[in-house]
Amino acid sequence: AARNALRAGLRQAQQPRMFSTSAVNNKNVAVLGASGGIGQPLSLLLKNDPLVTQLRLFDVRLAPGVAADIGHINTPAVTTGYSPDGAEGGLEKCLEGAEVIVIPAGVPRKPGMTRDDLFNTNASIVRDLAKAAAKVAPKAHMLIISNPVNSTVPIVREVFKKAGVYDAKKLFGVTTLDVTRASTFLSGISGAAPSETIVPVVGGHSGVTIVPLLSQAAQSSSVKAGEQYEKLVHRIQFGGDEVVKAKDGAGSATLSMAYAAAVFTNSLLRALKGEKGIKECAYVDSPLYKDQGVDFFASAVELGPEGVKEINPIGNISKEEEKLLEAAVPELAKNVQKGIKWVGENP
Ligand code: NAI
Repeated sequence: AARNALRAGLRQAQQPRMFSTSAVNNKNVAVLGASGGIGQPLSLLLKNDPLVTQLRLFDVRLAPGVAADIGHINTPAVTTGYSPDGAEGGLEKCLEGAEVIVIPAGVPRKPGMTRDDLFNTNASIVRDLAKAAAKVAPKAHMLIISNPVNSTVPIVREVFKKAGVYDAKKLFGVTTLDVTRASTFLSGISGAAPSETIVPVVGGHSGVTIVPLLSQAAQSSSVKAGEQYEKLVHRIQFGGDEVVKAKDGAGSATLSMAYAAAVFTNSLLRALKGEKGIKECAYVDSPLYKDQGVDFFASAVELGPEGVKEINPIGNISKEEEKLLEAAVPELAKNVQKGIKWVGENP
């Protein structure tokens, strides 16, 4: 009896429990930049996602090693690592058949740096990865993590447009970490469970472009107007700086980011296989502020079998949130234009 109980317990321990799933469906997911601070834990979490059946890991260093390690985990995803000159083939081989491509490749911030300081290095990394994706997997959903997200996502659009394969429904800047932080920080004040604390975060993914819509959270009344509200908004907008500072030169958020990206990827995979009513905030090609020069804007998006199904309107917001948006929009317009201009000059 004891042995049966042990076996039952072991079986339970072997079921991936983090993510919900209802049916088996083949999904091929590639991670580019898979050996990095985000890439490794993200790959681990994706290996634990029962919806992933093929997990392809690419990096300029170490990806076959990461894949060999993760590949021993007894979950279904068949894991393969690719390096530029490896036996398995390089980037293009990795991308063959990919339906979802998650990109955390690039350099992270050091103390005192803004995300925009990363632009010069990461813009060309993202451009080159996007070129390969547009060539080999033009129908894949592109999930961009590399900063500055506000500018790297427009770069991917321009690359796909140039290749004649752009589909606005399939390009996402991953802003889930902002939503995750907002939930954690608000629940710390209200005492409600984080899982029930849902704060839409709109705009972009850096500093003042991050606009938390706390008034739309069920727990909004637990935040006192004035100093407490302002501190909370600031903490959500600049939460990344807390991590950069605490890591003291060793990088920026990686583990919480990997978690957030795995959550977003799981939501997309569920939507792709037909589950309805799935919403996430994401930075997408959006009509909401296009008239103000902002081609990309993060807001709540309903996901469907083709990617973006519907972009929700911002909804009712407070006076304070209107002011935050007023500050965000011109900054965001600059960030978007910077990406478009750069890739125009550096195709
Ligand atoms: P990291 O330096 O630890 O890892 C980056 C990885 O990318 C390295 O393994 C590197 O070898 C690889 N890489 C570099 N060039 C490549 C190329 N051409 N092809 C494939 N792989 C390449 O950096 P970390 O901490 O993982 O951050 C990655 C990016 O994610 C940074 O740009 C960072 O700013 C961003 N980030 C985004 C967040 C978001 O909310 N969207 C949150 C936190 C970080």
